[in-house]
Amino acid sequence: MNNNSTMTCRTRAEKSSVWLVGAGPGDPELLTVKAVRILSQADAVLYDSLISPQILDLLPRRCTRIHTGKRCGAHSMTQQEINQTLLAAARKYSCVVRLKGGDPFIFGRGGEELEYLHNHGIEASVIPGITAAGGCAAAAGIPLTHRDYGNALVLHSGHSRFNEFSPCQNPTRVFYMGLRQAGPITAHLLQQGLDEETPVALITNGTLPQQQVHKGVLSDLPWLAQQALSDSTGPGLIFVGDVAAMARAGSQHKASQAVA
Ligand SMILES: C[S@@+](CC[C@H](N)C(=O)[O-])C[C@H]1O[C@@H](n2cnc3c(N)ncnc32)[C@H](O)[C@@H]1O
Repeated sequence: MNNNSTMTCRTRAEKSSVWLVGAGPGDPELLTVKAVRILSQADAVLYDSLISPQILDLLPRRCTRIHTGKRCGAHSMTQQEINQTLLAAARKYSCVVRLKGGDPFIFGRGGEELEYLHNHGIEASVIPGITAAGGCAAAAGIPLTHRDYGNALVLHSGHSRFNEFSPCQNPTRVFYMGLRQAGPITAHLLQQGLDEETPVALITNGTLPQQQVHKGVLSDLPWLAQQALSDSTGPGLIFVGDVAAMARAGSQHKASQAVA
């Protein structure tokens, strides 16, 4: 990061001035450096109830603060009202932050808000946060995976859109260390009953300037993995599930180069 990048919200590479920012599980010191940079430049912030006051203290005094609520049983705005307020703020202010607890893309409805903005001609950027599972596990000394005791992690919503528990019907699977095992992984998933047209996305060097995204369907996974391995020697993840279709293929992560 150069000095200028600590001063600007909108950068040459970062054309968008709307940010979905993950605030982490609560401890302000678990915010990312990028989140702190963008928060310190925000003109308007829409924030959820779980955001701690110490994190809001990082906002400039001039910043307009909009509390969206969103605690179980105490919603102060509907999702539609949040979407509309976010859009109005995006049209009015030059640096707008939608601040969410944990990670915006894990049970945070960040995907819906991103889609809403996109459908109205506004591209937002996402800054991930430490999700509650990671934060709480670290705080309590629970290793989420362990070579001897656990080789997978399932993050499950405890309630559905109808406010009740629903079983794991449409999970997103993410395989770490899987590119060289794409053949057996594919065979296993097909055997489990997954449709061969299930969307997949392979991401190598994620978040780095050399990030690459390969997209396709499950039956093509072994071939896509070969492509990814021949295009890059970097680390990779395999995403399997309907949401993988939403990946921006070939997208480069926005570099943190500031406008000169
Ligand atoms: C709507 S979900 C949002 C999850 C968030 N996007 C994330 O990535 O952690 C809110 C739920 O996350 C869990 N949660 C969030 N912060 C937590 C914390 N500091 N300690 C324990 N659970 C937490 C609780 O189950 C809470 O009801």
